[in-house]
Amino acid sequence: MFLFLEKNDIIVLCVNHTMFCLFNDNLKRKEMVNLDVLWQKGKDFLGTKYAILGGAMSWVSESNLVSAISNAGAFGVIAGGSMDVTLLRKMIQDTQAKTKNPFGVNLIVLHPDLQALVDVCIEEKVSHIVFAAGFPSSTIIKQLKDHGIKVMCFTPNASLGKRLIKTGVDALIIEGSEAGGHIGPVSTSVLMQEILPEIKDVPIFVAGGIGNGEMMASIIEMGASGVQLGTAFVCTNESIAHDNFKNAFIKASAKDAQPTVQIDNEFSVIPVRAIVNKGTKDFLDLQKLVVEEYKSGNLSKYDAQMKIEHYWVGALKKAVIDGDVVNGSLMAGQSVGMVKSISSVSDVVENMVASAREYLSK
Ligand SMILES: Cc1cc2nc3c(=O)[nH]c(=O)nc-3n(C[C@H](O)[C@H](O)[C@H](O)COP(=O)(O)O)c2cc1C
Repeated sequence: MFLFLEKNDIIVLCVNHTMFCLFNDNLKRKEMVNLDVLWQKGKDFLGTKYAILGGAMSWVSESNLVSAISNAGAFGVIAGGSMDVTLLRKMIQDTQAKTKNPFGVNLIVLHPDLQALVDVCIEEKVSHIVFAAGFPSSTIIKQLKDHGIKVMCFTPNASLGKRLIKTGVDALIIEGSEAGGHIGPVSTSVLMQEILPEIKDVPIFVAGGIGNGEMMASIIEMGASGVQLGTAFVCTNESIAHDNFKNAFIKASAKDAQPTVQIDNEFSVIPVRAIVNKGTKDFLDLQKLVVEEYKSGNLSKYDAQMKIEHYWVGALKKAVIDGDVVNGSLMAGQSVGMVKSISSVSDVVENMVASAREYLSK
């Protein structure tokens, strides 16, 4: 007879029985680390083969990329933030023509025509809406839910996340500061530790800095229902981003993707992570000039702030569509260092999933 102390503090007294317990425990562990089991909640919520969202990227996430992501078994999201009603409607219809799989629409809450864009999504029978840069009103949430549309929001912390769930939000995204584009101040790893143990009742998708399957698997193992990737999908054959934009990604390393710098406490700068270029440096010079003009009384505070805010207007389009990678905004996350070549969307998705499965099987 042996005394055996299990890792769960179960004491088993009989040799044969001990073997039986260990066997059961191993089976349980194998089941627990199976990717399909771990992210089932995310897959069910999205209606996809894989619980991977292709995060909306303005100018990049249009019908070609979005449908390719959905056709690859993940979940594409149209970047509706820079679109008007007519363009959004066309984009949804074009995407529907290119995929029968589910996809979503990302809307920026501050958009002046938000209600009209929401109405287009309802009329075109979009299944999921991801709200960014703020939170939709309870009226909009109710309107969407009455039409069976699932609502997703970004949350910067657990308490706000819980409040959003109470207002009817169906799933949350947490996005760390490693991400490309507009960012918050807190890293993905800290947000995960703060939020994942606190919120279990809705699916949570994690974004920011995910560049390989091992990272994706670890995040899912920690309790996320899925992930959201942006940077990883830019350099795909199906992405319409200009070759110059894609080449800048391929050349960049993680340290090149920096947040915009604010030089004066009085004039706020919205933090955006992008590959550093001449535009980034010129922006610093512009801030210095504007602050000097304000301090010497040649510019009002309002006009000075406006000059700073207007600097980047149109800059992402300039880089993504026109290929001006010198002056435009090269929004990219720190995972850009792991983007080494141009491949198909399906290869990006399948490689991530295969290495996640391999990692979990070890
Ligand atoms: C070029 C670019 C444009 C983006 N535009 C948007 C946007 O319009 N709306 C939004 O919610 N997120 C936007 N994002 C963020 C992505 O949706 C996604 O959350 C982020 O890229 C994930 O982090 P990663 O870049 O580390 O993969 C953008 C990101 C990039 C790189």
